[in-house]
Amino acid sequence: MTPVPAPRTFRVKSFGCQMNVYDGERMAELLSAQGMTAAEASDDADLVVLNTCHIREKAAEKVYSDIGRLRREDGSAPLIAVAGCVAQAEGEEIMARAPSVRVVVGPQAYHRLPELVAEAAQGRRASDTEMPAAAKFAALPRRRKSGPSAFLTVQEGCDKFCTYCVVPYTRGAEISRPFADLVDEARLLVEAGAREITLLGQNVNAWCGENGKGRAIGLAGLIRALAELPGLARVRYTTSHPADMDDDLIAAHGDTPKLMPFLHLPVQSGSDRILKEMNRSHTAAGYLRLLDRVRAVRPDIALSGDFIVGFPGESEADFAATLALVDAVGYAQAFSFKYSARPGTPAATMGRQVPAEVMDERLQRLQAALNRDQLAFNAASVDKRCAVLVERRGKHPGQWLGKSPWLQSVHFEGEAAIGDLVEVELAEAGPNSLAGRVVERVAA
Ligand code: 5AD
Ligand code: SF4
Repeated sequence: MTPVPAPRTFRVKSFGCQMNVYDGERMAELLSAQGMTAAEASDDADLVVLNTCHIREKAAEKVYSDIGRLRREDGSAPLIAVAGCVAQAEGEEIMARAPSVRVVVGPQAYHRLPELVAEAAQGRRASDTEMPAAAKFAALPRRRKSGPSAFLTVQEGCDKFCTYCVVPYTRGAEISRPFADLVDEARLLVEAGAREITLLGQNVNAWCGENGKGRAIGLAGLIRALAELPGLARVRYTTSHPADMDDDLIAAHGDTPKLMPFLHLPVQSGSDRILKEMNRSHTAAGYLRLLDRVRAVRPDIALSGDFIVGFPGESEADFAATLALVDAVGYAQAFSFKYSARPGTPAATMGRQVPAEVMDERLQRLQAALNRDQLAFNAASVDKRCAVLVERRGKHPGQWLGKSPWLQSVHFEGEAAIGDLVEVELAEAGPNSLAGRVVERVAA
């Protein structure tokens, strides 16, 4: 490859989950610490990092079309680095299929991005998809900037091996970052302006560690410790697995006011037969019992879930069980996907793959039910007041945008500043947001 001048400007584009958003922010911090400047658009950047997602087929295909689109009108292109889970899973294939890609870097190796970019600028294609346990966190620069709502990765990887999922292969085995490092990073984020921290992990509630006194603790212990940080008003966590919802975490929803009343707990299907084929280690009834226990300590908790329709062998009766579970739960919001066969996963070679048109039709019915419940959940807030964390200005003059404790987006008008917690009187509800007006500013 021909050498190019060392890049001076960069743009990181993240796709997929919130963990990728976090990784993207850390890569941007890393490149800034090297003296590079963030560009507003890919067209103005010497280096473009595509931080990719591999969870579904469409997500992976998108990478190749994005690479093509980076070519500019004059035929030139930026130095392209592919990061994230597609890089991990298909690094060699990307190098072969997309000659314009100069760097491939996996999710556990991105602390080496500056070195790899320097090597690539000298004309050698550079790749690192090693998966050492969490060496990267120690190698990243200290955090200096944050909006009111920040992400903090506390756990990575997954040992659950759901039969449809690539995550155990792309992100590797479960690892927990040490307690002291997390408290330090959270403190830095608060100093940098964060009022809310969302703890992230592929299986965030599998986090385990030792507190400052050497006692073994789980995620609830970490949440309680972070809730002590002055200036931090809200703690959230995502994504959880039903098998790791322990008694202490459920109790924390009742006894830790800074832990927001919101739980994203994927269930995937309401059919026990399909759950078994998915290797989910819980039944539909077991999942509902778990939710009852959370509701017993936090009656106003908002529930969220993930669903897959059209898993191999899913019959109409199996799908009806999913709809029945949705009716039983009443989700405040949810994500639903058509099953996508991922190479290397056990489900990809199972018989009785469901035809595309059946999947389409089931997804539509499921989403209609989920949208109905989401609108009903939002509508129930009208004429009530709630605390909103102000995140940014809205599109219209005088308008602000923030989040309710139940993770609803709230547009509102009135006296406010970014980072404030304000009491908003809610006047209108739509499927995706609420609207209202500030009544008063509240102290955290
Ligand atoms: N096909 C469709 N959806 C998937 N998910 C994970 N793997 C697949 C797949 N192969 C969904 C699950 C998971 C969410 C992050 O993505 O619902 O909870
Ligand atoms: Fe994938 Fe299942 Fe692990 Fe979630 S719990 S990341 S769906 S294997």
